[in-house]
Amino acid sequence: MIPKEIIEDIFTTSRIEEVIGEFVQLKRAGSSLKGLSPFVKEKTPSFMVSPAKQIFKDFSSGKGGNVVTFLMEHEAMSYPEALRWLADKYNIEIPEEKATPEEIAQRNEREALFLINKFALEHFEHNLWEEKQGRAVGLSYFKERGFTEDIIKKFNLGYCLEDGSQLTDAAKKAGYNPDHLVTLGLSKKNDKGYYDFFRGRVMFPIHNLTGRVVGFGGRTLRSDKKIAKYFNSPESDIYNKSKVLYGLYQSKSGILRQDNCLLVEGYTDVIALHQNGVDNVVSSSGTALTEGQINLIQRYTQNITILYDGDAAGIKASFRGIDMILEQGMNVRIALFPDGDDPDSFAQKHTTEEINEFVANNAKDFISFKTEVLLKEANNDPIKKAGMIKEIVHSISLIPDQITRSVYIRECSDRFEMDEASLNGELHKYIRKQSSSKPHEDTGIQNIEEKVAVAEKIDSIESKGEHHEFELIRLLLRFADNEVEVLVEDDNGEEYEAKYTIAKYIVESLEQDDIKLELPLFADIYEIFLQHYQNDKIPSSSYFAHHPQPEINSISADANSSKYHLSPNWFKMHNIEVKGENEDLIGKVDNAINNYKLKRLRTIKQLRQDSLKGVYDENEYHSIMVEINNYIRVISELSKFMGRVTLK
Ligand code: CTP
Ligand code: MN
Repeated sequence: MIPKEIIEDIFTTSRIEEVIGEFVQLKRAGSSLKGLSPFVKEKTPSFMVSPAKQIFKDFSSGKGGNVVTFLMEHEAMSYPEALRWLADKYNIEIPEEKATPEEIAQRNEREALFLINKFALEHFEHNLWEEKQGRAVGLSYFKERGFTEDIIKKFNLGYCLEDGSQLTDAAKKAGYNPDHLVTLGLSKKNDKGYYDFFRGRVMFPIHNLTGRVVGFGGRTLRSDKKIAKYFNSPESDIYNKSKVLYGLYQSKSGILRQDNCLLVEGYTDVIALHQNGVDNVVSSSGTALTEGQINLIQRYTQNITILYDGDAAGIKASFRGIDMILEQGMNVRIALFPDGDDPDSFAQKHTTEEINEFVANNAKDFISFKTEVLLKEANNDPIKKAGMIKEIVHSISLIPDQITRSVYIRECSDRFEMDEASLNGELHKYIRKQSSSKPHEDTGIQNIEEKVAVAEKIDSIESKGEHHEFELIRLLLRFADNEVEVLVEDDNGEEYEAKYTIAKYIVESLEQDDIKLELPLFADIYEIFLQHYQNDKIPSSSYFAHHPQPEINSISADANSSKYHLSPNWFKMHNIEVKGENEDLIGKVDNAINNYKLKRLRTIKQLRQDSLKGVYDENEYHSIMVEINNYIRVISELSKFMGRVTLK
């Protein structure tokens, strides 16, 4: 997509010390630069950057590489994202193929909107620090709330003057189109002309992942209940509210480092926590959490801890959030603050250690949390109690991964002293209901940006170790109707020869162990495939190639290209033996299936290991250890079977 010579240009122009210097404080040390590792917490610097060799090496985490790998590791960018980021920084133009004049115009329009927001941010900051009214009203308000000058600057807080149309006028004078200011919600128009929308409010700019300002929240300083406490920018071409999280730009390296993301309600919670040393926190800014926002977090970590004040509204909001997070395959914990405190007030009263300790000791997994809340409501009424268990099983049914689900079902069965079979029965009722009601999105490709986004998403799938899943889908789509001869064992242990299509072979192998694909995109493709298959139809490759969902048709194009070659690491399954000349094909298929199983097993084993950290009860500890040992046994058997050496 990005031409080779441009990539070379990007590599030769970029200076690794400048790029890393944006994220890490570096000091000269001989011919190199030295700093604190951005990947692990440490007190003495062990992170080195060599301007001569244009590489970095982190002796604490073992990570190292060039400027692009740094951005991929540290900022969780995909390869093309990193290149585009660098191109942008060094003003290298990437020629876009096939952009129509309208697309170019649209891109310029977006650029103009970004520039105006930047102008507005600087204007509001100037007011806050330099203008008499700004200092007297805005700055003193922030200081009264306990915000330090450093934190005010870090979050680029500002102030919009009371009187009339100062921002609008300044922007016009600087050559910006006032209609664009209206589009962005910064100005309004009445019969007398344009005026500033956020008059008399302190301003919280909202950054996107790359640090550009997409919108603002403006808080009134009056206590009049009739006035909305916050005004927020409207959605625009550059601000899609469901895909932005307040604080993510400032928190992403903290989230990566701690492998956990705290989720709070408001702007001020994020800021107060940062000021008090907790820098892995974001807010959905008063609106309900969306799938898009969860996916943003997922680029940096699989773990979310929800921090809410314990009022009824907070709890209800957290229930919906929990289910959405589980649905995305992530781990979620919930900590409620004591009566009368929210993360903001709590953070201001405590040290970093105390806050971290509070979160660590009070964050509950979703089963404990829901149980606690619902048990209070149930008041020992058996019907309500049954309803509660169903509610919890419903949450479990949303988890995409089968093994994780069964771990939680076992947990439930222990806790409520119910047998696993009936819980599983309930679980599958929910799962069936969901798979029959899930609509498939129908999104045509609208513009070039979306195409690029799709391609980048697929690139990042390849780079994020999802290749086992991809390989499986690739083989399924490409060779579905190829026939192979296999030896199958029937229920009595008798062997017989049978002709299988690759589709049948893959579907049966996965069903046998109740394995589903994990990544939503692949899970979708597999689900569509299954629906056809169960109606005795194998979808042709052109079916997927022309599928309206852009991600699906790109995957299908990749699956059918000859870009991918696996080494023919052939082996046999214990009850199915391969005959004939398709040996290699079925070998690849087995390999893909088993690799994927192995990966799932390792993940779940890790999950159990991580869960040991918070366990102090000896019996519980023991039973988790037994479970972990079981996983280790299965992993090692499967690896041996695949002719691999087990490392863990
Ligand atoms: N919010 C909003 N509009 C309102 C009230 C709240 O958009 N009228 C959003 C804001 O994003 C706010 C969040 O909901 O940050 C949480 O609300 P609240 O706790 O009332 O605000 P705080 O940010 O905590 O502000 P403060 O502490 O100054 O009251
Ligand atoms: Mn508050």
